[in-house]
Amino acid sequence: MILGICGSGRKEGNTGALIEAVLAAAGGPAEMVWLIDANIGYCTGCMRCAFEGGCWQQDGMSALYPRLIDAEAIVYGSPCYYGNVSGLFKSFMDRSIALGYMGIGKEAEIAMHGRKPLAGKPAAIVGAVAGHGIDAVLKVMEDYAGYAEMNIVGKLGAAAGMDDVRDKPDIMAAARDLGVKLARALKQ
Ligand SMILES: Cc1cc2nc3c(=O)[nH]c(=O)nc-3n(C[C@H](O)[C@H](O)[C@H](O)COP(=O)(O)O)c2cc1C
Repeated sequence: MILGICGSGRKEGNTGALIEAVLAAAGGPAEMVWLIDANIGYCTGCMRCAFEGGCWQQDGMSALYPRLIDAEAIVYGSPCYYGNVSGLFKSFMDRSIALGYMGIGKEAEIAMHGRKPLAGKPAAIVGAVAGHGIDAVLKVMEDYAGYAEMNIVGKLGAAAGMDDVRDKPDIMAAARDLGVKLARALKQ
């Protein structure tokens, strides 16, 4: 199963359209996570996860941790907000620090940065922007997936002004290409 993680609150918006195009082109079972519906609180930076084997906060992220670990591949997507990922996507990223400590607990002798349960998993990255700022957005997401040691198969930044990206054949073709790359990585 491929998981799509959408950091836009607009379900008819461009980020969701890009992720859905990638998922469709990749083929096979896929699930979309709309972070706007996921009820994910902020990371408090307490680092209790490193000593307790998981995050103490019981919210939407609790159910998402195992889905991320079980996914065969992940498509990350965020709109560009002021030259960065959306707040929804940032909170999701921050809370995923606990992934490195899940099931470990304080007795275990682990490296400071925990485990990398997503290591090697194929990842695709998409971002939607009106005009300017997508490079930084893609870099933030790349650094995030890179820290997790995922296999980043490609990235797509889509500048569509205030238009609907579905009306941009070149961009939609690039999204489908990314899905094909993801499927290829899954077969390897
Ligand atoms: C809070 C906010 C900040 C934004 N900042 C930028 C920006 O820095 N540069 C830009 O070109 N567009 C910016 N936009 C426009 C969005 O990136 C653009 O409309 C994008 O396609 C939205 O994605 P969505 O359709 O998936 O919601 C911003 C929009 C919002 C709501």
